[in-house]
Amino acid sequence: MTASELPLVHVIAAARPNFMKVAPLYHLLNKADWCRVALVHTGQHYDPNMSDAFFRDLSLPTPDFHLGVGGGSNTEQTAQVMLAYDRILTQSSPSWVIVVGDVNATLACALTAAKHNIKVAHLEAGLRSFDRRMPEELNRVLTDAICDLLWTPSPDGDVNLVREGVDPSRIERVGNIMIDAFEMMRSRIDAKRTYLEFGLEASSYAVLTLHRPSNVDDRAVLSRFVDCLAEVSRRLPVVFPLHPRTKKMLLEYDLLTRLQGIANVSVTDPLGYIDFMGLTSHARVLLTDSGGIQEEATYLGIPCLTLRENTERPITISEGTNRLVSLSTLMAALDDVLSSSRERAGPPELWDGKTGERVTESLRRNLIA
Ligand code: UD1
Repeated sequence: MTASELPLVHVIAAARPNFMKVAPLYHLLNKADWCRVALVHTGQHYDPNMSDAFFRDLSLPTPDFHLGVGGGSNTEQTAQVMLAYDRILTQSSPSWVIVVGDVNATLACALTAAKHNIKVAHLEAGLRSFDRRMPEELNRVLTDAICDLLWTPSPDGDVNLVREGVDPSRIERVGNIMIDAFEMMRSRIDAKRTYLEFGLEASSYAVLTLHRPSNVDDRAVLSRFVDCLAEVSRRLPVVFPLHPRTKKMLLEYDLLTRLQGIANVSVTDPLGYIDFMGLTSHARVLLTDSGGIQEEATYLGIPCLTLRENTERPITISEGTNRLVSLSTLMAALDDVLSSSRERAGPPELWDGKTGERVTESLRRNLIA
């Protein structure tokens, strides 16, 4: 079989958290002698510091296909990615499509591929917050319902899928691919001292990220959050890389100047992967509403306070360093963290930097089956 006759695999990436998940896998598949791989970027995240910086840090090549579907409502993004990917699938015929995570393009590409009768695999399957108000929860449930192969990061994922009626033969527990990205970049991350750029000392500061619609889209909630942050900053310095959604809402509600006026809080543009991990891996505490940061905190043994009512990653609480907090309970939880010694829970099983290898082997088996 010549190289151009090898089965083709599409790997889909759309938004910032996807880039870390596809990178380790893309590099492994690119080296494999039993398939060809094409990278598809749907364009959901398009700012240079939300996309290009990650491609550069993770050594990802220019995508083979760029769908150029940027902003818009959840429905618009999903529909436009489906239309654009439908056109790609009329000119490129993959044997398998791999989608990752829970963003709008995850569902859009999985559904489009399924309608073309192409096999689809979901990496990071089975996670559930049981909160259907979150767009990501709908994406997770619907994607898992139509995928042929479900790669889960932790036992709770398997349990959720079986409860939803998924045949266990479709489920394979492979571990957490985010840890592969961290280990792949570890030497460069360890060499980074991002905190020095903010005039800080190791283990003396908090890193904050916030972008969920439930936290940033409502004026009263966002305003209360800014007040709360002023209180946090009296305990320790805070670095706050601003997500575009959060910046847009702070501007719209006239809260950005108030935020920037808080002494001890450094507001920055979003950071690239290596800079960001260089910063978080030396933090005293992480404050976040992101899914991936809950996992990275657990892996690094750094306390994490998650500003959400629920998490689709309960293992970061049961086996990790994560706690759910609200604006009312944040200060008490922070004081508790700051008065205790650093947490050092072990990483959950299969969060070992070898998830990409297990995924690649699973795909090879399913491709030749
Ligand atoms: C999306 C994902 C979320 C993920 C987050 C990580 C969904 C439903 N949500 O949310 O799961 O945690 O990414 O960041 O898929 N924008 C820019 N520049 C960019 C990207 C976005 O200005 O590079 C703007 C958009 O135009 C929009 C806003 O930021 O106005 C929000 O972006 P969007 O992609 O809709 O959702 P996120 O909040 O980023």
